[in-house]
Amino acid sequence: MKDARGGKWKNAALVNGYSHYDDDMPHNEYVEWQKECLNEMYRVLKNDGAIFYNHKWRVQNGLLQDRQDIVGHLPVRQIIIWRRKGGINFNPGYFLPTYEVIYLIPKPEFKLAPKTNAYGDVWEFGQEMKNEHPAPFPVALIDRIISSTTGEIVLDPFMGSGTTAVVALANDRKYIGIDISPDYCELAEKRINRDRTQSELTNIKQKTLL
Ligand SMILES: C[S@@+](CC[C@H](N)C(=O)[O-])C[C@H]1O[C@@H](n2cnc3c(N)ncnc32)[C@H](O)[C@@H]1O
Repeated sequence: MKDARGGKWKNAALVNGYSHYDDDMPHNEYVEWQKECLNEMYRVLKNDGAIFYNHKWRVQNGLLQDRQDIVGHLPVRQIIIWRRKGGINFNPGYFLPTYEVIYLIPKPEFKLAPKTNAYGDVWEFGQEMKNEHPAPFPVALIDRIISSTTGEIVLDPFMGSGTTAVVALANDRKYIGIDISPDYCELAEKRINRDRTQSELTNIKQKTLL
């Protein structure tokens, strides 16, 4: 989150990090930790379930860092491109990044909900602006994922402001949410209890259908 002139990009709340947790660790350690998380998710997943794993690709020291070292040992079936409206890059050495990836990692009997494969594999959703969390998912993105599956229980082990929970409930699913930060857990709890979420989601669904 630093620009090429060495200064910090002032508008990004994430430059201040998450509350209660610093995930700045050596790359190898980080990879091992993420692999362990994914392995555990895969272990508890039902035979017709799937993991949707979002992780930015980045350019580090001038070289593309994809996430093959984290997901390579798992049965990745597809990469979904989440095209965002913007991006950050003050570097003249490469084009402005405008997308993130979501790895679809299914168990053997996973099938999409009827007709949803027509969405294709490039999805365009803008950033979530109305959220106190420094890195929230757009509600519409999570709605696309959850409503494209028939899963009854959705697990999000990095739940932040609770986007996965509110979207799961609005789609009549159950959720299990985990976050290391008590502040974000409180934020999520308040959000889940707010009754406007249902209508917020209904609006988004209507817009998506237009
Ligand atoms: C990208 S944010 C998730 C934001 C969320 N998708 C939303 O819509 O608000 C990642 C979250 O992971 C949490 N986190 C980081 N390390 C964690 C850990 N070891 N265990 C649980 N949560 C962790 C952070 O506190 C942060 O809220």
